[in-house]
Amino acid sequence: MRAQVCKFFLLPVFCMLWLFGSFSAIAETPIHQVSSETCKACHKEIYKQWKGSMHAQSSALNDPIHGTFYGMVMGDPTKEGVKSKKGKYPVCLQCHTPNAAKDKTTKLDAKPAYAEGVNCVACHTLAEYKGTTGKNGKPTLGLKAYRTSSVLQGPQGFKTEFAVEDDMFGGTADDGDQKPNPHLGKSVELDGKTIASMPMEGNPMLMKTNDACMGCHDKRSNSFKVPLCATGDEYFKGKADVTCTSCHMPISNGLANHEMGGGHDIAMLKRSVIFSISSKKQGDKLNTVVTMKNKQPHSLPTGAPFRNIYLKLTAYDTNGKVLWQNANGHPAKEDPQAYLMYELLDDNDVHAAPPMAKKLGPDTRLKAFETRHLTYSIPAKNVALVRGELFYNLLWPELVKKFTKLPKDLTAPMPMAMSEVKF
Ligand code: HEC
Ligand code: HEC
Ligand code: HEC
Ligand code: HEC
Ligand code: HEC
Repeated sequence: MRAQVCKFFLLPVFCMLWLFGSFSAIAETPIHQVSSETCKACHKEIYKQWKGSMHAQSSALNDPIHGTFYGMVMGDPTKEGVKSKKGKYPVCLQCHTPNAAKDKTTKLDAKPAYAEGVNCVACHTLAEYKGTTGKNGKPTLGLKAYRTSSVLQGPQGFKTEFAVEDDMFGGTADDGDQKPNPHLGKSVELDGKTIASMPMEGNPMLMKTNDACMGCHDKRSNSFKVPLCATGDEYFKGKADVTCTSCHMPISNGLANHEMGGGHDIAMLKRSVIFSISSKKQGDKLNTVVTMKNKQPHSLPTGAPFRNIYLKLTAYDTNGKVLWQNANGHPAKEDPQAYLMYELLDDNDVHAAPPMAKKLGPDTRLKAFETRHLTYSIPAKNVALVRGELFYNLLWPELVKKFTKLPKDLTAPMPMAMSEVKF
């Protein structure tokens, strides 16, 4: 019908546009520029989970903490041509905004697929993990640690050659709705709109192993070769062959959950540790033992170097009056064993910010699967209750003081575990 109308009007150029325009506009978009909004049309549940995750907030435009650091060490995320102090393309973008890194742009608001940070296609086009150390020993981080593909990568893939009816309308388990499958090599129609073909290959060797995560989560050092984040290095290399996804992408509602909670997720923090206190009277003292067991195959806390946990131990009388506590306020000085942190130092052994650190200080975090006991001797007189509490903090105390503009929920200590003994 359209072809006939075209002949009639003898305007071949316009007609070609009319014929193919609606398809080509989408089809010509390189896959790494496809916004997660496109995937949302069918993968509603996964989209919602991802949207609430730190992956969706990972660009300097959307994560206030990363945005603050990025502004300090690199520059304005809405400008083109931002460079590091050494005049290089900002390395941050290789992990925090991989689609922008692919186009070597620093104007992160130029396309939704950049601003979205680690979006659907950022992970689902990773084809092969090459490691985070290049041939010359230089770090190859984030996107650079991978061979990427213009074809989407999935954990199973589809039978594209001799597809049967079932494969065409597999449905997206998500919302119970049957959806047409655009991953079989043909464009599809959904709600009157054409969705361009987005071919997909099965790649279980990447999608079902830690390779899917390690390019960005292995380790990263600052320009003085001091390791900042090192979840990969911390990782338990013993017999328990447990994948990141077994915890970070559990099955919920029949699908691999894409919330990927970590330090920002109180539910995740609560289940990260076995925490228990015992307290026995001996003479005029309460011999108190605090037990903490890290359930993870990586450190607790892991990730960014400023993540930290502290213990508050308090003895109360029957009226709730505090008779004894392990520290008055933050335990860093009075009770250092109660402070689990990763210390970065400058040349004078003074605590340093990540970009300035010259060497590592003590690492008092719980190592993979470590169980640690801390002992305290508390004066027993009038004590009715001993309470232990663990608090998780996204930032070191001095950063909390410095970054006064950050939202309170990012700077307030998060209660992650509690245990009591009554007398
Ligand atoms: C028009 C609907 C539609 C759109 C849009 C869509 N998908 Fe899908 N997708 C499907 C269907 C249908 C399946 C098959 C699901 C099933 O079998 O339950 C699927 C399956 C998948 C799978 C699983 C493949 C495997 O190996 O198991 C992945 C990954 C995926 N899609 C990613 C994406 C991404 C990323 C986007 C956006 C760039 C996207 N999809 C856009 C309909 C869609
Ligand atoms: C392309 C790089 C990239 C890949 C691949 C990647 N991540 Fe991430 N991930 C990030 C970045 C960047 C952040 C931090 C976002 C922020 O806080 O600004 C993050 C954050 C997280 C967090 C949350 C941390 C928090 O602060 O709460 C978890 C958990 C996580 N990733 C797990 C995974 C797992 C599991 C995989 C593999 C299935 C994976 N990631 C793959 C880049 C990546
Ligand atoms: C941080 C990386 C990452 C991001 C971001 C990501 N995915 Fe995934 N996705 C994975 C991994 C890894 C798996 C495989 C899980 C498995 O099978 O163990 C997966 C699995 C899937 C599946 C198959 C689920 C199942 O249980 O069969 C679909 C569909 C999917 N992703 C769609 C999406 C969509 C849509 C988005 C964006 C809204 C997205 N993914 C964002 C890493 C990611
Ligand atoms: C046994 C479950 C389990 C496994 C396996 C696991 N994690 Fe975690 N992960 C957690 C829990 C619980 C937390 C929250 C407590 C913490 O920060 O250690 C967490 C936190 C994180 C964070 C948040 C760091 C931050 O700055 O907020 C990242 C990133 C992360 N994990 C990445 C990984 C990667 C990558 C792997 C695989 C190499 C992995 N995890 C394997 C349970 C697990
Ligand atoms: C190798 C990949 C990688 C590179 C390169 C990278 N980051 Fe990150 N960054 C991550 C990951 C993964 C997380 C979140 C999980 C964690 O804490 O390890 C993160 C978290 C952060 C956080 C904490 C965010 C929050 O919400 O608490 C800040 C701040 C940060 N990065 C700043 C930067 C800056 C600034 C740069 C560039 C100078 C940079 N990162 C380069 C992977 C990277």
